[in-house]
Amino acid sequence: MYATSLGDGAELKPLEVWHAAELLANIDRGREFIGRHVGLPDVVSDLAGAHAWLKSYADKRSADAGSVHGIWLDGTLVGGLLFRVWDTPGGVCEAGCWLEPAAAGRGLVTRGMRVLLDWAFEERGMHRVEWYVSAANEPSIAVARRLGMTREGLFRENYLHRGVRTSTEIWAVLAPEWRAARAGTAHGDH
Ligand SMILES: CC(C)(COP(=O)(O)OP(=O)(O)OC[C@H]1O[C@@H](n2cnc3c(N)ncnc32)[C@H](O)[C@@H]1OP(=O)(O)O)[C@@H](O)C(=O)NCCC(=O)NCCS
Repeated sequence: MYATSLGDGAELKPLEVWHAAELLANIDRGREFIGRHVGLPDVVSDLAGAHAWLKSYADKRSADAGSVHGIWLDGTLVGGLLFRVWDTPGGVCEAGCWLEPAAAGRGLVTRGMRVLLDWAFEERGMHRVEWYVSAANEPSIAVARRLGMTREGLFRENYLHRGVRTSTEIWAVLAPEWRAARAGTAHGDH
């Protein structure tokens, strides 16, 4: 199957319905870690749940309304990147991600998101990519920062997660900002 190399034995490819068992195994290895801030492990609770969630993304993809992409490290599915919301006419989408703990700390999500943001801005004409993140989720906020996003605000206690009300930060990057940052990187200007 076609894939994009992220280097160091990591690959980014579409995550499809037939990956349900691999997705469940990935979530099982990271259930506690991933579930601290996001509801994905609660949805992917068994094989039927994994299949149903992937099917919902296959439906989104067929409607050009979203997509999910897996990150494989040395042949094992270790996480994913997604466009939960994708509005082509409006030029706005919302990205998200997860990793099992053994795959964290290697830059896989940052590298993978850069590939997807290039595609979103340059091939699909997006103008704005958004990142909604729990205010307590430091690693994910660090990803937003590394992607050159700007913190635009805070929704106070808007999300009920496992019985606890949490606040959500919104971060975003616009197409001209993305291009300027990429041009700076290309010229060695970090
Ligand atoms: C959010 C999450 C994906 C971040 O994982 P992460 O491994 O920190 O993010 P990346 O894959 O981009 O890796 C960045 C880390 O690798 C390091 N790194 C190593 N090589 C790197 C490279 N080539 N490029 C960038 N970073 C690199 C960075 O320094 C950073 O480590 P640090 O935080 O100790 O400084 C992870 O914490 C997670 O899955 N959490 C649970 C689910 C979740 O919260 N999802 C987000 C919902 S909004």
